[in-house]
Amino acid sequence: MTATTTDSAALRAQLVNRLVADGFLHEPRWQRAFLGVLREAFVEQFTVHDPATGTYTRYDLAADRGAALAAVYSDLSLLTQLDAGGTATSSSTTPSLMALMLERLAVHPGHRVLEIGTGTGYNAALLCHELGDHAVTSIDIDPALVEQARTRLAEVGYGPRLIAGDGALGVAGARPYDRIIATCGLPRVPAAWLAQTREGGIILVNLGFALVRLTVAADGTAGGRFTDYAAFMPRRTNLDDTALTARDIIAAADRDGTICRAPLPDGLDERSLQCLHAIVHPHVHKVVVHNDDGDMYALTDPVSGSWARARPDGNANATVVTGGPRDLWADLTTLAGWWNEAGRPEPTRLGLTVASDGAHELWLDRPEQPVMPLPPA
Ligand SMILES: C[S@@+](CC[C@H](N)C(=O)[O-])C[C@H]1O[C@@H](n2cnc3c(N)ncnc32)[C@H](O)[C@@H]1O
Repeated sequence: MTATTTDSAALRAQLVNRLVADGFLHEPRWQRAFLGVLREAFVEQFTVHDPATGTYTRYDLAADRGAALAAVYSDLSLLTQLDAGGTATSSSTTPSLMALMLERLAVHPGHRVLEIGTGTGYNAALLCHELGDHAVTSIDIDPALVEQARTRLAEVGYGPRLIAGDGALGVAGARPYDRIIATCGLPRVPAAWLAQTREGGIILVNLGFALVRLTVAADGTAGGRFTDYAAFMPRRTNLDDTALTARDIIAAADRDGTICRAPLPDGLDERSLQCLHAIVHPHVHKVVVHNDDGDMYALTDPVSGSWARARPDGNANATVVTGGPRDLWADLTTLAGWWNEAGRPEPTRLGLTVASDGAHELWLDRPEQPVMPLPPA
């Protein structure tokens, strides 16, 4: 065993100990998987973003193995692909979130699992470690990522079924999956996934800024609660698209439009309201600009071509300018009104029922307490 391998093993053990101590990793079988699969085998070069300082640090295992390995075995998201505007389009997910999701998935030997978002292949490797290659199918929209993951998985001895394509369509198999896990964010749960999952099977997916865990029923519907805050990079449909940056969102909302004075709802900056807003209105991008002369909320929905900006006036009102077919500010204030009246529920009090035709109904505390149908995305 080389000195480097020894370092890697020690760093892996440290990471697993930390994930256990922090309450993300409980099950010995997943602890063994994180100890047994080398994360560095799936990332040669990567970037780490520090949101506290706004800095990006580039690592290269070949150039500075020590520094790169330390980052690989920190609880960090490793960005492995950026679009033309600098937004990450693929990464190796933060290990604590991977561990949490693998345990929430309640996947066991004998199950067949479909992963949406192959990325580096590291999560697929963890699944193969526990379930065996034959049980794992993984799909990514980017064929180059799929081929790279196939090579890297093979180099460390794994051979799951890998497919290039749009994971929102699922992957039809000879028999339904027991589990579907999505590692990219979706605006809605695709009806195809319900049809491809067996009765009693589980779908775990990020909608808005939260994970939802659905169980498929005998009638082909699926239902379950939001379990945790989490935000993955969103599903892509076109590899050539460049994601909107904060600068783009502010620019899109900085236009002439209809001006009015409107109420400024309480709690606009609360995380649980932002999460709810992202679930209900998944195509709306929102940025808050903090200026010396006060805050400015900028919203844009590229799908409907709508936008809004609002400047609070200090008296529970705001000067609002809107444009396009949807009034994005009215949508936000209506939702904030419900959320305030309902006692500001955290996402874990919310749940979702998805019909076999893909219609979504949001509920509070239990399915018998519907809140609203979610608009189709
Ligand atoms: C956070 S990364 C996945 C991390 C991965 N599971 C790993 O272990 O490295 C998100 C991935 O979702 C993929 N993705 C985005 N849109 C997709 C789509 N429509 N279908 C399938 N994969 C998609 C991206 O290309 C990206 O690789």
